[in-house]
Amino acid sequence: MKLLRYLANLGYGSRREVAALIEDGRVTDADGAPLEADARVPHAAIRLDGAPLDPAPGSLFLLHKPVGYTCSTRDAGRLVYDLLPPRLRARSPIVSPVGRLDRDTSGLLLLTDDGGLLHRIISPRARIAKVYEAELAQDLRGDEGALFESGGLMLESETTPLLPAGFEALGPRHARLILHEGRYHQVRRMFGAVGNRVLALHRSRVGGLGLGDLPAGQWRVLEADEIAALFASAG
Ligand code: URA
Repeated sequence: MKLLRYLANLGYGSRREVAALIEDGRVTDADGAPLEADARVPHAAIRLDGAPLDPAPGSLFLLHKPVGYTCSTRDAGRLVYDLLPPRLRARSPIVSPVGRLDRDTSGLLLLTDDGGLLHRIISPRARIAKVYEAELAQDLRGDEGALFESGGLMLESETTPLLPAGFEALGPRHARLILHEGRYHQVRRMFGAVGNRVLALHRSRVGGLGLGDLPAGQWRVLEADEIAALFASAG
């Protein structure tokens, strides 16, 4: 793709604005030589004002989402996009969350502008496990595991029962759930169905990926081997 369109698609401005950046000699190669609007240059070799570009198109971003941020491009409050380079929201195609987390849920959130990759991750056929830890308002009853693992739990206003989910009690009011699907407010509604209430919810893993030591509010781009690990551990 020609440089002008490439940079406009990456959110660096309208075509007119990007043309001005190029005409002003602000877009260069790695050695500082100005590039032409119709140049075709590898992503890693392009500099704007001497700095490398944002991550390449097709990147998979790992964000440690804090509580209080919404997975939306437009909302009254704080958005997950506020934690990422501002241009990601202006990309074409846009960088979108790979499945959402509620505003009040923290933890591992993936985002990408690669629609094919996004669908491969969220496809039920991929069977990628999502691991959640929940703090609960009431003590566990003791029968939650059997019910959640049964594959027979029907949530209100759903037409099909939930897939079997893994369950582990971590304390009287603390539990881990492993889901292979992502229905609306699923974890909160599952505990609601057994007379409990989720006070705090955190997603710790998706497939073979964890957050490691990534602090809340921070992000990084995943390497190819980490994306492979995401799929390899499915099942
Ligand atoms: N289940 C929920 O209830 N909320 C989330 O954010 C994710 C799963």
